[in-house]
Amino acid sequence: MSAAEDLAQMGHALQLAKRAWGATHPNPMVGCVLVENGVVTAEGFHERDGGPHAERAALSSLLRNPVAGATLYVTLEPCSSAGRTGACTDAILAAGVRRVVVGATDPNPAHAGRGYDVLRRAGVEVVTGVLEEECRDLNLIFNHWVTTGGPLIAAKVATTIDGRIATRTGDSQWITGEEARADVHRWRRLFPSIAVGAGTVMTDNPRLTARIEGEPEWCPVRFVFDGRLRTVLDHRLPKVYTDPFASRTIVVTTQHGGEGYMRKLRALGVGVWVFESPSGRVPLGRFRARCASEGIGGVLLEGGAQLISRALAERQVDYFFGYQAPLLFADDKAKSVLSGLRTEKLSQAVRLADLRRSVLGDDGLVRGRVVYPEKLQVDETLFSLG
Ligand SMILES: NC(=O)c1ccc[n+]([C@@H]2O[C@H](COP(=O)([O-])OP(=O)(O)OC[C@H]3O[C@@H](n4cnc5c(N)ncnc54)[C@H](OP(=O)(O)O)[C@@H]3O)[C@@H](O)[C@H]2O)c1
Repeated sequence: MSAAEDLAQMGHALQLAKRAWGATHPNPMVGCVLVENGVVTAEGFHERDGGPHAERAALSSLLRNPVAGATLYVTLEPCSSAGRTGACTDAILAAGVRRVVVGATDPNPAHAGRGYDVLRRAGVEVVTGVLEEECRDLNLIFNHWVTTGGPLIAAKVATTIDGRIATRTGDSQWITGEEARADVHRWRRLFPSIAVGAGTVMTDNPRLTARIEGEPEWCPVRFVFDGRLRTVLDHRLPKVYTDPFASRTIVVTTQHGGEGYMRKLRALGVGVWVFESPSGRVPLGRFRARCASEGIGGVLLEGGAQLISRALAERQVDYFFGYQAPLLFADDKAKSVLSGLRTEKLSQAVRLADLRRSVLGDDGLVRGRVVYPEKLQVDETLFSLG
């Protein structure tokens, strides 16, 4: 089997894995292809948490044992411990497969490499690291969850080239074009939850659902950060509290919110998480801990400027999506997206690592893991209560 063939088949397995986009939490997406005499004769993917793993799905669809010389391609290292569905290494050995090609190694340090050892000890040829970066990138949320025990908190912003999110009069819809916006909906479909601040709810009244052509509207858990419950004061309540997905909304607030408004929200079926906080702002670290205890593996912070700036200043943004439109406002009074840090030296900048770039129509997307400098200087005046 040539290296080019291995790459092509792994690409195929990756496409299969993506069929379960957003459906496998807290498990990873995994795709698998079986090739006999150069022909794909079986394929499978992990469809949902608790369902068969990709390797078992592929092997069982064949309804016979693979022929001698067959190769199994799988995007993630086969599991070697019998969980709910039995070890995949057992299924591979029982089927008599003698060559296995793997994309990414199991990110769990307690398991990493064990699947390879089990297979190699049984005489199977194991090739690792084929399309490794792509296979690892597929499971950003899962990888973070198994290595830290908490959610991947990602921030998304859409800006002009000069880093602005709205003009001086607040005109902001839409800075990016259709393809970039469709991409955001794809990520919304992947993340188990989305979060926005009260300002965004009051200005934009967003639905915060994933609307993808050809698919039913999907609603992740929707968090609204509103320390004083000012989104509830109005007689015209925002969509996220009144639409058919209202029970998927959780308001993140403090004791300053007031019992009456909390009751009003609960009566609408909206969840309320109350944190004790003298400042009226919920520390993102405590929010993260609550998400971890509730089994929420990922949060996409979609805005606005204040919520994301604060999360960054608190070192609570793990991943960043920066959409960029080919526009320049060149206007000091135009609204910029991030503030609150005193970055005096380049060495104090927050950086992105493991970069991925894409072009979406006229717009660009740069995304990556957030790497904080040793010392972050926070300008607290920017965070005082308005
Ligand atoms: N271009 C983009 O990517 C993008 C994305 C989303 C939104 N936007 C724009 O951003 C604008 C809104 O931004 P914004 O900065 O005014 O609003 P925001 O960040 O959505 O909301 C700020 C408010 O949310 C509450 N809040 C934030 N963090 C909190 C915390 N940790 N705990 C409790 N409450 C918290 C606070 O309410 P209190 O002050 O009452 O405590 C705060 O004033 C809109 O114009 C929207 O269109 C742009």
